[in-house]
Amino acid sequence: MTEEKKTEQKPIILSGIQPSGELMIGHYLGALKSWVSLQYEYDCLFMLVDMHAITVRQNPAELRKRCYDFVALYVACGIDPEESTIFIQSHVPSHAELAWVLNCYTYMGELNRMTQFKDKSKKHHTNINAGLFTYPILMAADILLYQADLVPVGADQKQHLELTREIAGRFNEAYGETFKVPEPYIPPSGARIMSLQDPTSKMSKSDPNPKSYISLLDNLDEARNKIKRAVTDSEATVAYDESRPGLANLIRIYNGITGEPIEEIVSKYEGKGYAEFKTDLGEVVVDFLRPIQEKYKAIREDKKVLEGIIQKGAEEAIKRSRRTVSKVYKKVGFVPPIR
Ligand code: TYM
Repeated sequence: MTEEKKTEQKPIILSGIQPSGELMIGHYLGALKSWVSLQYEYDCLFMLVDMHAITVRQNPAELRKRCYDFVALYVACGIDPEESTIFIQSHVPSHAELAWVLNCYTYMGELNRMTQFKDKSKKHHTNINAGLFTYPILMAADILLYQADLVPVGADQKQHLELTREIAGRFNEAYGETFKVPEPYIPPSGARIMSLQDPTSKMSKSDPNPKSYISLLDNLDEARNKIKRAVTDSEATVAYDESRPGLANLIRIYNGITGEPIEEIVSKYEGKGYAEFKTDLGEVVVDFLRPIQEKYKAIREDKKVLEGIIQKGAEEAIKRSRRTVSKVYKKVGFVPPIR
């Protein structure tokens, strides 16, 4: 059996992150960590979704730079580019092509229900563009193009995954089996990491207050301080209780990074106060960031290597996604190109 055939038999994973801000521990614990742990069991494709990123205004030079930063960070976090396909969405024309077709198989009412659209249109009320509205269709195209079995994401993407499944099912019913209907993979812990400054809202890279999130590239002292200053309640004991959201969030971050069960973390701090817990968590975070930052620096400096990864990824993604687009074009009745 050839190498290619062997890989093709593994179930397929597809996932992506928008290079629209800094890569932070919310992304890591919600998505990247699962990518790293599942990459050898699955045939994986990991994207940088730059086409999604322009649904809000981006500085072009920064967007370009961030794409290279993100590829280097994917690798520094443990994605093995020999094993997985890493690519940039805009390098693969099939995404826009399939998205158009799926636009015609998605209802306005479905898009109107998307909570992320509602949140984002509040945040960007001067730029509620059509792309922001149809964004979940492009995401469905990303996934369905590669016949993905599993999509590892944080909890905030669950609704988009449900819509993807709905669109796939609808198309399959109309034209016969065309798309694999994908399953979401939402990690047991880390699915929803909250802001360090307002633990009732999600940690977000676009938060104007950088104290609310920890970027994977934060200066280590800064990261320590962000944990120290994280908003908690005024109680004295360390306990895991959802009604104390600030502390519960910090315990989940501790658990997500170290893998120590929540009960063990809590019992370690029995009779101790928040200060000691926060100091230790600061060290946990720093010990986690340090090796990633060291690897990142080495990879980021080598533009040739990064370009090699991106080019190889694009070739593979173009080849694989074409098959689905051809199948879909044929099914909907487009005349095949005359060769
Ligand atoms: P994005 O770029 O907002 O986030 C990337 C991934 O990180 C997860 N995430 C979080 N997880 C836990 N806690 C948080 N605070 C947190 N913030 C972000 C997200 O759930 C996501 O898994 N639409 C997607 C990108 C996308 C995509 C795709 C994902 C486009 N096409 C196809 C999967 C498959 C997004 O905006 O993620």
